[in-house]
Amino acid sequence: MKVCIIGSSGQLGYHLYEKFKKNSNYYFFSSKILKPQFIKGSLTHVNQLILKLKKIKPSVIINCSAYTNVDRAEIEKKKAIILNSKSVKILSEFCYKNKVILIHFSTDYVYSGKGKNMWKENSLSKPINYYGISKFNGEKSIIKSNCKFIILRLSWLYGIYGKENFIIKIIKLAKIDKKITMVNDQFGSPTSTELVILVLKKILNKIKQNKFKSGVFNLCPKQSVNRYELSKYILNNYFNRKFLQSIKIYSTSTKNLNLLALRPLNSRMNTNKIKKFLKVEIKNWKFYLDKYLKNIKV
Ligand SMILES: NC(=O)c1ccc[n+]([C@@H]2O[C@H](COP(=O)([O-])OP(=O)(O)OC[C@H]3O[C@@H](n4cnc5c(N)ncnc54)[C@H](OP(=O)(O)O)[C@@H]3O)[C@@H](O)[C@H]2O)c1
Repeated sequence: MKVCIIGSSGQLGYHLYEKFKKNSNYYFFSSKILKPQFIKGSLTHVNQLILKLKKIKPSVIINCSAYTNVDRAEIEKKKAIILNSKSVKILSEFCYKNKVILIHFSTDYVYSGKGKNMWKENSLSKPINYYGISKFNGEKSIIKSNCKFIILRLSWLYGIYGKENFIIKIIKLAKIDKKITMVNDQFGSPTSTELVILVLKKILNKIKQNKFKSGVFNLCPKQSVNRYELSKYILNNYFNRKFLQSIKIYSTSTKNLNLLALRPLNSRMNTNKIKKFLKVEIKNWKFYLDKYLKNIKV
């Protein structure tokens, strides 16, 4: 089964490359040729990418590419919409015409963040910032294309190949400033690329066994935490006691930060649907984070 991965230089895409690089049925597309194995192609030039995909004739495309800078998306609206919506529409139409299964990633930011309940996949999606709008439009165009698809809505993604994820930012801030102010009113669950890849492998197995079913799925670890408590957990588990004594951490609320993009406060997601579909065990966020903190050097 031939699998094409788009956005192979990103946090998730590169982790997939490292996992599957020895399999000659996997093709890695990127705008940057970080490895000789990479093929030049990205969603920014989707029609050129499609010409190359047509030659390979994959059974599955995994799209890891996206415009992911939440604040900048408020300014570069056109870029965000091209990458997260318009190109995704063209790609999904290609998938429909060529009977390719599209695996795509979306975000907790498609939900409004109101209330305290966990979001289910069929909860009303009402994004409150432009990144969320562009990602939700991408989801809608995939569904409308009639292609076979899986959309995984991830939250607070981090991974061993991420350069600017939340966890790395906190560690860098602690090292450089020794002073951190973090919001205590945004709740969610940090999702590791390790968990995403475990789920992807199970989806690929379903495809191989012809037990595939299209659908939108939430995916994040068990239990949620606010960003202030998460930051404390990261620092306590990354630094030694002596260094910790030199760091000060304060809490604040999101409205005090005056960020360009609004942030959903409640990103708690219910993952029963994916657990039932794949019979996958999803552990507490601390399980994945502990492993990650042991493996990174910032
Ligand atoms: N990061 C998070 O906190 C988070 C949370 C929830 C959901 N997600 C979703 O998870 C997926 C993977 O996220 P990630 O963190 O791995 O993303 P990432 O590290 O930002 O990588 C995204 C990739 O998309 C391509 N890309 C980005 N901007 C581009 C541009 N302007 N023009 C063309 N290509 C561009 C690049 O791939 P190439 O250069 O290789 O083509 C880039 O490496 C995305 O769909 C994202 O929306 C992320």
